[in-house]
Amino acid sequence: MVSRVIPVDPFDLVIFGGTGDLAQRKILPALFRRFCSGQWAEGVQIIGAARTVHNRAGFQAMVAESLRAHAAAQCHDEGALRAFLDRVDYVTLDGYSNEGWNQLSDKLNQDRVRAFYFSVGPRLFGPLAERIKAHDLATPSTRIVVEKPFGHDLESARALNATLAEHFRESQIYRIDHYLGKETVQNLMAVRFGNMLFEPLWNSQYVDHIQITVAESVGIDGREEYYERAGAMRDMMQNHLMQLLCLIAMEPPAKFDPDAVRDEKLKVIRALDQVEPHHIVRGQFDGGGSGNGYRETVGNPRSTTESYVALRAHISNWRWAGTPFYLRTGKRLVARSSVINVMFKDAPHSIFGEEAGRHANVLSIRLQPNEGITLKVTIKEPGPGGMRLVDVPLDMSFAEALGSGNQDPPDAYERLVMDVIRGNQTLFMRGDEVEAAWAWTDPIIAGWHARGDVPKPYESGSTGPGDAELLMKRDGRRWQGINP
Ligand SMILES: NC(=O)c1ccc[n+]([C@@H]2O[C@H](COP(=O)([O-])OP(=O)(O)OC[C@H]3O[C@@H](n4cnc5c(N)ncnc54)[C@H](OP(=O)(O)O)[C@@H]3O)[C@@H](O)[C@H]2O)c1
Repeated sequence: MVSRVIPVDPFDLVIFGGTGDLAQRKILPALFRRFCSGQWAEGVQIIGAARTVHNRAGFQAMVAESLRAHAAAQCHDEGALRAFLDRVDYVTLDGYSNEGWNQLSDKLNQDRVRAFYFSVGPRLFGPLAERIKAHDLATPSTRIVVEKPFGHDLESARALNATLAEHFRESQIYRIDHYLGKETVQNLMAVRFGNMLFEPLWNSQYVDHIQITVAESVGIDGREEYYERAGAMRDMMQNHLMQLLCLIAMEPPAKFDPDAVRDEKLKVIRALDQVEPHHIVRGQFDGGGSGNGYRETVGNPRSTTESYVALRAHISNWRWAGTPFYLRTGKRLVARSSVINVMFKDAPHSIFGEEAGRHANVLSIRLQPNEGITLKVTIKEPGPGGMRLVDVPLDMSFAEALGSGNQDPPDAYERLVMDVIRGNQTLFMRGDEVEAAWAWTDPIIAGWHARGDVPKPYESGSTGPGDAELLMKRDGRRWQGINP
């Protein structure tokens, strides 16, 4: 199956922080891949903006180098690379000053979609929004894209929402969570709401529990200062895992429209119970295996920041009462693996007797690597040896199913940036969603501070602290493996 490319009209995209890591490693390569797919009409313009002094050619050279490193497959076509770079421009500008804005204004076209991507530290979000408005760069078809972190707690998220709302309507604000741009995440909605098969079983009557794992094998190198203030709860749980939880647990929206979907997600967050302290495990990787432990990495021998968190959440509504959701995320774990496992209940009665063992269906939604969906079903073991049961996977890997054989599925940023241009906010977080997520997260963190909680050490390259296994074991359950 070949995916269809839906062309977009010419647009101007300004990337504040165009010289930074995210822009060079993710955003610009994503734009280049979309360009190579033929999605753009003539006349698209991409303007990098940052304090570093570059002329246009200098910035183009920087972008070319990044594309060769991060979009290597498409860079074999020198003609395409050249044509893309022709659309790339640069303005030297400091988000805290008023210089450079007139040059930026001169480069922008009227009467077309105009997007400003805030790929800068969060302190600059407010000042940039103010200056876009003050320099009269905001047209009715202007959008702003705001990166994470969106606030540090409820209070700061509210303040940021209020600042942005002074200058832009909610329909112009795109709060990005790149997890929502992953093919599988959207497929989760397609699987749930496009098939008759799953939705009747999608409730506490048939689902024993749900596991959401976002495991990373990397540490925090290069992000020490930020991470030491954030920890896994703020960096991952409050946003990425919360969003996955919402999509798994939400009621069917009336239609696939941004506010209908986001209304349902918001209801899930608001129905979350406060997490009991004994239902949370915090961990911090130590030096075992290779590399430094967390405390050496951040240069703080007394750090109590968690690089791992696992918790049991409950959603108090009719659909999910009695079905726990186990969420875990951590750094320097055994493998990079993001998976949602929907663990169905055992059949109520086995006609095959005790010796056939216990078998339950598991629907695994793999977000990375190898995006795909697997349904574990029970069948008869082949052969004449009697009625022995065995669990086998019904596997749908997207790379195979969609016929893109040697190619990875589109990167999340490709889809999300194009959604900004098309004006589709479905996969972006609304202000009230972000605030509700902080309202759930803040008391958990406050509780840790009040109790002087110290995270449990875990070995680098392991599956996390032993207490996380106990969290499950106490409930007569166990985590699925973390497999690459
Ligand atoms: N990197 C990632 O993988 C990643 C993932 C998710 C979210 N994010 C978020 O994305 C944002 C950018 O991250 P990053 O990793 O790209 O950071 P970075 O590498 O430090 O880049 C920051 C960018 O901001 C520019 N900048 C800094 N101060 C400025 C100012 N006063 N006026 C104008 N431009 C300024 C810098 O260029 P000059 O120094 O030349 O001004 C640089 O281009 C952050 O909010 C981060 O949390 C990053």
